[in-house]
Amino acid sequence: MIPRAAIEEILYRADIVDVISSYVTLKRAGSNFGGLCPFHSEKTPSFTVFPATKSFYCFGCGAGGDVITFIMKTENLDYPSAIEFLAQRVGITIEHDDRASKDLINRKRVYEMNLEAAKFFRSCLFDPKIGEEGMTYLKSRGMSGATIKRFGLGYAPRDFGMLTDHMRRKGFSEEELITAFLCGKSQKTGRAYDYFRGRVMFPIIDTTGNVIAFGGRVLDDSKPKYLNSSDTPGFKKSRNLFALNYAKDDCAEEIILCEGYMDVIALHAAGFSNAVATLGTAITSEQARIMAKYTKKVIISYDSDEAGQRAANRAMQLLGEVGLEVRILKMNGAKDPDEFIKKFGADRFRHILKQSKTGFEYKLEGVLSRYDISVPADKIKASGELCSIISEVYSAVEREVYIARVAECLLLSPDGIKNDVERLRGKKMREQKKLESREAMNSAKNYGDRVNIDSVKNVAANAAEEAILGLLLTYEEHRAAVANGKVELSTDDFFTSLGKRMFDAIMELQVSDSGFEFSLLGETFTPDEIGRMTKYRLERGQLTRNGIDVLLTSVDKLKKEKLHEQEKHGEDKFAALRRKRQSAVEQKNKNL
Ligand code: CTP
Ligand code: MN
Repeated sequence: MIPRAAIEEILYRADIVDVISSYVTLKRAGSNFGGLCPFHSEKTPSFTVFPATKSFYCFGCGAGGDVITFIMKTENLDYPSAIEFLAQRVGITIEHDDRASKDLINRKRVYEMNLEAAKFFRSCLFDPKIGEEGMTYLKSRGMSGATIKRFGLGYAPRDFGMLTDHMRRKGFSEEELITAFLCGKSQKTGRAYDYFRGRVMFPIIDTTGNVIAFGGRVLDDSKPKYLNSSDTPGFKKSRNLFALNYAKDDCAEEIILCEGYMDVIALHAAGFSNAVATLGTAITSEQARIMAKYTKKVIISYDSDEAGQRAANRAMQLLGEVGLEVRILKMNGAKDPDEFIKKFGADRFRHILKQSKTGFEYKLEGVLSRYDISVPADKIKASGELCSIISEVYSAVEREVYIARVAECLLLSPDGIKNDVERLRGKKMREQKKLESREAMNSAKNYGDRVNIDSVKNVAANAAEEAILGLLLTYEEHRAAVANGKVELSTDDFFTSLGKRMFDAIMELQVSDSGFEFSLLGETFTPDEIGRMTKYRLERGQLTRNGIDVLLTSVDKLKKEKLHEQEKHGEDKFAALRRKRQSAVEQKNKNL
């Protein structure tokens, strides 16, 4: 349990606009701020931050809540961990009431375990007998002693139990070791055994210095080449980058993004200390956002094979979406940066870094290589593809620059290309809007409502519920009126089970010693549900009449609907089914 005073202090100090700005590019719109929603993909901004109510809401996907909900969603944390996260950000230390957040303990324990394991692997590597194979391998890959030490590399012996025994002696239980993916569990005996064996070990260290996971490489061509820790309480592959702990101090201008650990290590050793890699998976939007926090520009240096280039395309898109300037490195004569540096040296690499192409140039080259522009039909196709690419670009100035470039390459007039681009852009925007508004309409009709699955069963009752909950979430006097019985309303009056739960939680807080506070609902409800409550609040805020008469009318309506429902269930079940089928047929005819 986190003391309420601490939560209030954090809410007071953590400016929601400030916090959200470090994840989303916000633009002022009147007294609010707007931007592209980080929780669903959209091209027209429907994500809004309301400083006055210290809340956010996305009109596209329905995500919403306060600053704590936002952190829960973006950092994928539970309620106490999100508070802890914000506390750190605003510089408050939380005095825990009693049992501190379980998650946090787990996480700390995993880090301790990993650190101990990393030390063990390192001492094995440097042991002339145990580590000989591993050391010979690393040296054969051209690694110096200094590099091996700097990256904390190690060796996991071939034995099944050396690490397990060592860790047990250090006081870690088998269960803990299995949780941290340092041990596997034998199907036959149920006993723990070393997960990594006969591999050189790469510790993965986060930006605060915790060893959060390991990657282990075999010494030969056997499979799998790499074994990685799976996600643990202290580690998510999707939100970490290899070597960012070193790169972070030297990457304000640019980051070199590679595919492999070996590439990163070779680059650092050659003096490019701004290289990072993903952790054996394709890049995620979270990783893109993390990079955007540290740098302006990312040079994608993926393998030169087809798979690498396909991955580069995807990376280009994700990195562009978070506002990073993107470059793509082209390597000839080597399959990856590690090999390139070995073959041609650091200077040549520096040279090709400088020549790396912008995303647009890269795509332009791709299109031009596929068509023979001296053939009119090909030229038209090439122009069509390039116009389509440019029409996706958000900045008008950038579009202008690309239009000029394409005109030059295809020997066409910029005006003609510009016309095509703007026409395509208009069409895409209209389609986008239509799509987004269709989604909004569907959700308005409660179809596919996963947050409140009962809402579709009685739209009128649900509407009344939403009005009531919106009023109760916003106005102290209405909550008081319900609490002291002036307005007769109880859990049983609610129709949906989500409504019941919300009502209960609101009233429980209301009658508690310290009173109602919206943010505390985050402890009980999922971020999706908090988003829903934010919507109810927002909808009331946009209406002018929110007095007690409105509350009473809505309560009345809800009770009437509830009554109807009960009567309906008394009638012949088949009649209800028939009616339902009939209306489905009518609906279908209407759609045709
Ligand atoms: N990877 C993985 N599991 C595999 C193969 C690869 O997790 N079975 C991940 C590793 O993070 C690896 C990255 O994908 O670093 C890139 O793979 P690859 O290019 O094959 O590895 P390199 O790091 O280049 O290693 P090496 O040069 O030793 O082949
Ligand atoms: Mn390689």
